[in-house]
Amino acid sequence: MADLAKAGDTILLLSQDGKRFMIRLEVGKEFHSHRGKISHDALIDQPLGHRVISHLGHSFFALKPSAHDLIMHARRRTQIVYPKESGYILLKMNIVSGARVIEAGTGSGALTIALALGVSPGGRVYSYEERADMQALADRNLLQVRLREVVELKQRDIAQGFDETEVDALFLDVREPHQYLEQARRALKAGGFFGAVVPTTNQAAALLAGLEREAFVDVEVCEILLRPYKTVPQRLRPVDRMVAHTGYLLFARPIAGD
Ligand SMILES: C[S@@+](CC[C@H](N)C(=O)[O-])C[C@H]1O[C@@H](n2cnc3c(N)ncnc32)[C@H](O)[C@@H]1O
Repeated sequence: MADLAKAGDTILLLSQDGKRFMIRLEVGKEFHSHRGKISHDALIDQPLGHRVISHLGHSFFALKPSAHDLIMHARRRTQIVYPKESGYILLKMNIVSGARVIEAGTGSGALTIALALGVSPGGRVYSYEERADMQALADRNLLQVRLREVVELKQRDIAQGFDETEVDALFLDVREPHQYLEQARRALKAGGFFGAVVPTTNQAAALLAGLEREAFVDVEVCEILLRPYKTVPQRLRPVDRMVAHTGYLLFARPIAGD
């Protein structure tokens, strides 16, 4: 059965020429674009997956947003972890329903959204951030996508350590992750999943050395390249430009007593 759009839901309006608009449905409001306006009331309590017509006669498709849409729509004031990385992170670190996961720093909360979706229902994300303004932004982004209850936002420099112990997974997206391996080890359960993203090979090498020093096992370093294609059946080929670099991903697992 098709999903029903409810007041308060964020939905995706896709124009016929492929423009994406994310809107939060509110009774009495209108969506405006140069392709015309659509009343929210015409969408509320209606099934998604349908065509709607603006007052100028342009077609839009009202759709349930994907996790990818929600992450890309989040407001950002930091570099974020993009869906091409977060998808792999979730599988690699076994972020499944019921898991307890720590991340730092929260930043704009893009990875937080992916983690919160992964641990739901029944799990918890503990997200640490030293800057109050960043925490406020992530708070807003999580409220927007109705995941705020899954996440505990904590304002702290993680050099002071984490409150939780025996967590299933811990992910670091901070400047010098190699400086926080002792804290990470104390919070993780033996055999848990550690991960980090760093923008340069120097930081990746420093983290690798730290992981070796702290006797983590099952170490992996990788980067993920995504090459989108033009969706024209008669001239199927990659788009002209691609994002060449976002970051290096590192994964490892701590072992009891070592
Ligand atoms: C690149 S951003 C994280 C982006 C986030 N992963 C996302 O997907 O939106 C890095 C964040 O880490 C925070 N940070 C850096 N060092 C920290 C520390 N020692 N303790 C807590 N937060 C820290 C910064 O303030 C910044 O907001």
